[in-house]
Amino acid sequence: MLEVSPEVEKKLDGVLQKHITDEGNIISLLQDMQEAFGYIPEKAVGWFSKKLDIPESRFYGVITFYSQFHTHPRGRNLITACCGTACHVKGSERLINSLRRELNIVEEEDTTDDRKFTVEKVACIGTCSMAPAVIINKKIYGNMTADKLMKMVKTLEGKKNED
Ligand code: FES
Repeated sequence: MLEVSPEVEKKLDGVLQKHITDEGNIISLLQDMQEAFGYIPEKAVGWFSKKLDIPESRFYGVITFYSQFHTHPRGRNLITACCGTACHVKGSERLINSLRRELNIVEEEDTTDDRKFTVEKVACIGTCSMAPAVIINKKIYGNMTADKLMKMVKTLEGKKNED
């Protein structure tokens, strides 16, 4: 198990107190871990594995099965581009590529170095009549263009971070 700092251990203990050790609670435990840290740190998995006597592989089995879990820090702003059929036909791929270029996100990454933005793709979000659709910080925007998207990103970049 990797060592954790006293501060992190206090956070982990808080999450632990909410849970009993049976297998059925792994999902809610992971949700609480992600809530506490913004993602699921490897150290936290090791810590819980030891405390609860559950192999780390069981945690990672759940983490990799559910797309809601993330093992890397996410950006403060989440931009999700729909890449379903209707949005694809209306140029969602070009949209997301220009956004990634603008934010300097390299191919295998999804988050900017300064952790201001995470850019990801999803399948149809059910608003095909407004294709191409983008979700920015949980709000859906339809008929998106590269220009509109860049303006919104600039506005978000200018906002004061609320960490
Ligand atoms: S394909 Fe994008 S909203 Fe349906």
